Amino acid sequence: MNQHSQQLEKPPELERGTTERFSSKGFIVAAIGSAVGLGNMWKFPYITGENGGAAFFLVFIICLLLVGLPVLMAELTVGRGGRGSASGSLVRLSGKPFWGRFGFITIVGAFAILSFYSVVAGWTIHYAVLSFSGQLFHDADYAARFGEFIGGWWPVLWQAIVMLLTGFVVAKGIASGIERFNKILIPAMVVLLVVLMIRGVTLEGASEGVAFFLRPDFSSLTPQAFLIALGHAFFSLSLGMGTMLTYGAYVDRRQSLGAATFAIGLGDLLYALLAGLIIFPTTFAFGIAPDQGPGLLFVALPAAFDAMPLGSLFAGLFFVIVAIAAVTSAVSLLEVPVTYLIERKRWSRVKAATIVTISCLAVGFPSAVSVGGTLPGLEWQGKTFFDWVDFITSNIVLPVGGLVVTLFVGYAWKRAADEAGLTGWWLRIWLAALRYVAPILIVLIFLHSSGLLKL
Ligand code: PFF
Repeated sequence: MNQHSQQLEKPPELERGTTERFSSKGFIVAAIGSAVGLGNMWKFPYITGENGGAAFFLVFIICLLLVGLPVLMAELTVGRGGRGSASGSLVRLSGKPFWGRFGFITIVGAFAILSFYSVVAGWTIHYAVLSFSGQLFHDADYAARFGEFIGGWWPVLWQAIVMLLTGFVVAKGIASGIERFNKILIPAMVVLLVVLMIRGVTLEGASEGVAFFLRPDFSSLTPQAFLIALGHAFFSLSLGMGTMLTYGAYVDRRQSLGAATFAIGLGDLLYALLAGLIIFPTTFAFGIAPDQGPGLLFVALPAAFDAMPLGSLFAGLFFVIVAIAAVTSAVSLLEVPVTYLIERKRWSRVKAATIVTISCLAVGFPSAVSVGGTLPGLEWQGKTFFDWVDFITSNIVLPVGGLVVTLFVGYAWKRAADEAGLTGWWLRIWLAALRYVAPILIVLIFLHSSGLLKL
């Protein structure tokens, strides 16, 4: 076979990169759908309340501007320039497999995050169903109920439902699957958020919750708070996992990546603000301590909703919001390995989505049954299987993935500025952030979150 016919046999994905495209609005909505997720809903309000309220919020905004947005822009630029997966784009742009190997780590990371993220997403759907059917409010011991639920088998079923839905959306493709799904659900979610926010802040005694969330307390602003804000800026914008890079591969050439970056950052921030304005007023109005992590969503909030008129309706709507936020993020995580397999193995989208969905369920099973102790023994050094996957992906893979893209665009890829469409001051600021500020801060996040640096 001569070279010419060999080339003809190669599918377009390998020659020119991906050919599917988002519409310009569709891309922004899908990227906001990825960024807005469980992280905004239970982690952000809590860490804000704990670390100085409005003072922390300010630090978070600074972290978004200094590190989050430049890295987000870098991921989108690499994706659009390379028109391939989180690994393939790096190889295509650099001509060196070396970069692709690092990119591959993020693909495995996205798959691993999805394997436990889908478990928690499943919990939110279960709680939405319980709320609407009025069954959430039969007894007052919400902590015991939650423990019983995650210690049983229901989470396995809900995780499967989440994964099947996620797989279905991804299998339908970029424009008619991911874009359409987000375009329907994200506006619906915003409407529900506003309804619940109004409900929350008009409750009697709500002002105390608003104060806890937003009163600036500069004395709680420790160096640790700064690193927490940085780490969260990363997780919240879905960086370091190849997600935004992969979505970037499907963005039209004419779209302004700078404007898109700001829109995504703003969307994520506003959502976090609204989530806090629901969670704190609602819990404080009924004298319930805003708990940390899963406890906040599944124990403190049900107790608060229980105490309000039409509680089951509002609780149901609340869990629908969280479920939408979680599933739209899950979709973006699944797209990362799917894009890779389409490119690398030349599989059809349907085949890639099916195989990754099933594999993710298999890998996610030990997470689903370890976190609540359904199956004993899935623990090591005081952490469950679920905790380990969360710990390794969020604290190790994520900063490493972020660093790779940052260094690649900052130092290795000479044509980055052309693809990004930046000139003048914007370009200088962007490159300075990627060359100096972001790498140092990412290394600090890594040392801190992996436990190597104690403050
Ligand atoms: N940004 C999502 C959240 O805040 O919940 C989580 C996430 C999605 C992280 C996708 C990383 C990722 F690649």
